[in-house]
Amino acid sequence: MGTGDFDIDANDRLSQGELRALQLERLRATLAHAYANNPAYSRKFDEAGVKPEDLRSLSDLARFPFTTKADLRDNYPFGFFAVPMDRVARIHASSGTTGKPTVVGYTKNDIARWSALVARSIKAAGGRAGMKVHIAYGYGLFTGGLGAHYGAELLGCTVIPVSGGQTERQIDLILDFEPDIIMVTPSYMLSLVDEFRRRGIDPRSTSLKTGIFGAEPWTEAMRGEIEGATGIDAVDIYGLSEVMGPGVAQEYVATKDGPTIWEDHFYPEIIDPESGEVLPDGEEGELVFTSLTKEAMPVVRYRTRDLTRLLPGSNGPMRRIAKIVGRSDDMFIIRGVNVFPTQIEEQILRCPGLAPHYRIEVARPHRLDEVSVHVETKPGLSPDNAREAADELRHHIKNVIGISVSVLLCEPLGIERSAGKASRIRDLRG
Ligand code: DLL
Repeated sequence: MGTGDFDIDANDRLSQGELRALQLERLRATLAHAYANNPAYSRKFDEAGVKPEDLRSLSDLARFPFTTKADLRDNYPFGFFAVPMDRVARIHASSGTTGKPTVVGYTKNDIARWSALVARSIKAAGGRAGMKVHIAYGYGLFTGGLGAHYGAELLGCTVIPVSGGQTERQIDLILDFEPDIIMVTPSYMLSLVDEFRRRGIDPRSTSLKTGIFGAEPWTEAMRGEIEGATGIDAVDIYGLSEVMGPGVAQEYVATKDGPTIWEDHFYPEIIDPESGEVLPDGEEGELVFTSLTKEAMPVVRYRTRDLTRLLPGSNGPMRRIAKIVGRSDDMFIIRGVNVFPTQIEEQILRCPGLAPHYRIEVARPHRLDEVSVHVETKPGLSPDNAREAADELRHHIKNVIGISVSVLLCEPLGIERSAGKASRIRDLRG
């Protein structure tokens, strides 16, 4: 499949019926391609006793086997590619905190389609040709920087490819080049806000109008925090390298009601993470994607480990995801209660004396798990008010989430910053 077929406005133009028909046709082609051209897939399909022709309707997809990160790792580096190496135009990889990275490949057509999907995403976020886009996602093997870059360029924007880090320089460039849009992780945006303030500059006074934030979970409360501090529209971009990179789903600025999945290129399912059963729309479970147009590395029922719900489309037939609750890897279970860092974040942001910079430590000093939340106070908070803020947070976490934690306050800048994805959890249980 070439890229002449790319329709940037598909979500405005397609009816529900046309979308489903397109998905079925593309799903069939993807299964046939994966089966014919990748031994790992043909083995998996054979073991499960299914052939690509067994897919007659979209719901038949449930008969096909899942693909996991472990499958990709076991076939490191290129074992999931489905085209000859000389057709692979680019490699990316996700760092992975443990073990080998997962490696992904793109043909020229894949890159063109990815760029178009990011262009569509920036457009949904309110971006237009002629706007300046400051890209502070990391460039390199991480898909964030280059993915955003190609999309912004294709849309006709002026791209400022800054990459992550060097916070002071980021600020200089925003002041001097006057971008309209910034693309960055929400946690690093907070660091930029701090740096503006440290210099005595009101972050509401910059040229920025829109922030396209993703690559890590963030909450509605964080949206409120960032929008309040900066006066910009904060919208959510979702993606993962195994499926493509940024631009698998994007929130529309007009509705700010969760990212719309670009369903003409990715078929979503929500499954029960324990049983693997497909769940009906609206129920929370693990998000699974099958790519519909990828050439170099098609993915069939890839388990993202991201927990969310599928919601009806609000800007066209394509469905949305609710804000990602978290990755199943980041969930910790305290005395039987499942807890995600995003839940703690929501409670921190309810406390006026606290800043949204935090780290959660889970330890087992005796026989039971204990959680401590390390969080920064806002600058200038008195010791009395700090003690009150810590009590307030403990109280909210107990009442809303149902677990007892200890709260350890730090001075402003006491929590280590990351120029990319924030790492929220430290597991000391060994
Ligand atoms: O983070 C791709 C990306 C770059 C997305 C820039 C958006 C912006 P990976 O490094 O493979 O790829 O990490 C993917 O990050 O499975 C989620 O757990 C998390 N994630 C990404 N976007 C969001 C989001 C990129 N908007 C993993 N909300 C995914 C919540 C997100 N989590």
